[in-house]
Amino acid sequence: MKIYKDKGKWFKFWRKLVANNSLDQEVQFLYQILDKFAPNARSIIDLGGGTGLHAQKLAEYDYVLTVFDASKQLLDAVPTFSTLNTILGTFEDIAKVLGSKQYDVAISMWTTFTYILDETKRSNFFAWLSANIKDLIVLDQSNFYLYPKKYRSEPIVQEVDDVKMKVWREFELSDQFLRTGRYHIEVKDSDGSVDKFIDPEVMQFVPIENLQQLLGENWELVETYGSYDGALYDKEFSKRLITVFKRKDV
Ligand SMILES: C[S@@+](CC[C@H](N)C(=O)[O-])C[C@H]1O[C@@H](n2cnc3c(N)ncnc32)[C@H](O)[C@@H]1O
Repeated sequence: MKIYKDKGKWFKFWRKLVANNSLDQEVQFLYQILDKFAPNARSIIDLGGGTGLHAQKLAEYDYVLTVFDASKQLLDAVPTFSTLNTILGTFEDIAKVLGSKQYDVAISMWTTFTYILDETKRSNFFAWLSANIKDLIVLDQSNFYLYPKKYRSEPIVQEVDDVKMKVWREFELSDQFLRTGRYHIEVKDSDGSVDKFIDPEVMQFVPIENLQQLLGENWELVETYGSYDGALYDKEFSKRLITVFKRKDV
């Protein structure tokens, strides 16, 4: 079995490789934001939550989690239990899939909502959020203002359970902050065979002003963080742009 054919396993592997094991810090960061800005919240939808890495930890705490993701294979790897469930759907179709279902909080980690490329579909997605999230919206993106127009990384090498993996990535960034990139991946499987493949991705960074406009006047930007360690956002220095919006009439 090639590790990348088992999407759940592959995703965890990949996440470990690129995320530098920052998951615990990310979850702690989310707890703190929730405690501070939405102390009464219970239900959370994790938009593009993948295998439920954040959701699982939050669901073991005090929250009821729904992982919403377009990949059935990733959702199949979520360990569902009474406070953790999954819904298959795309951001572009969220209104159709979820209708008027409501959640106290929405989170979207790891630059995930930036996979929406179509402007109208993005507007519809945010209109759904604006109408159906009751209290708080946390949107995490990389800080694209720091990125060069063209980039190619050094390879990262990691070994997990007999599988060796080498990954490097490259991208081009347009003046409108559309990032067209790809991961180059080499995997040496436990049977000694080597596979090389390319995983493309295109992402559209959304500046703060646009997020505010998309969510509309019922939503107030209450904080912008630049890192999972809780540091505040600085356009020229921060690695991330994590925006926290709160519904005004809660
Ligand atoms: C970079 S991963 C991040 C996953 C997770 N939030 C995390 O932090 O580990 C992006 C996720 O977004 C999902 N995704 C990508 N495009 C999507 C779309 N249009 N609608 C819903 N999910 C999407 C993918 O299936 C994947 O699980």
